[in-house]
Amino acid sequence: MWVVTRRDTGEFVGDCGLTPQQVEGVTDVEVGYHVRAGQQGHGFATEAAAACHAYARDVLGVPRLIAIIHPDNVPSQRVAEKIGLAFERDATSRDGDPVRIHTTAF
Ligand SMILES: CC(C)(COP(=O)(O)OP(=O)(O)OC[C@H]1O[C@@H](n2cnc3c(N)ncnc32)[C@H](O)[C@@H]1OP(=O)(O)O)[C@@H](O)C(=O)NCCC(=O)NCCS
Repeated sequence: MWVVTRRDTGEFVGDCGLTPQQVEGVTDVEVGYHVRAGQQGHGFATEAAAACHAYARDVLGVPRLIAIIHPDNVPSQRVAEKIGLAFERDATSRDGDPVRIHTTAF
């Protein structure tokens, strides 16, 4: 995960990055993002996740990118949709929790 900071103020915003994740026996690269409560709603997660999407495609050359999201987490699902990851399926995490898998193939 990379640190995300504001260019205008230098404030710490959160983190965003790419990690290998296993879901139901299959490992894919996931884009993950976290934005501090006071910095949410300014498009920072979408901007950072879009940059990670481009890095995964253009630099790492991975065949596909996923996001693993709790079904109740509407903001996170919107971020995934806005960077081009479409809903693929409902699944179960390694902890036994319900998750939604969003994906894009490159
Ligand atoms: C998910 C998260 C990263 C979004 O960060 P953010 O910087 O506020 O996101 P953006 O400003 O880029 O907004 C993305 C979309 O979510 C929507 N959104 C933000 N907060 C929302 C809320 N409470 N309810 C519904 N939609 C919401 C925004 O309106 C935007 O969609 P739109 O363009 O259609 O309006 C942030 O809420 C967060 O850190 N949550 C806790 C950690 C987390 O859940 N991480 C993801 C784990 S899978």
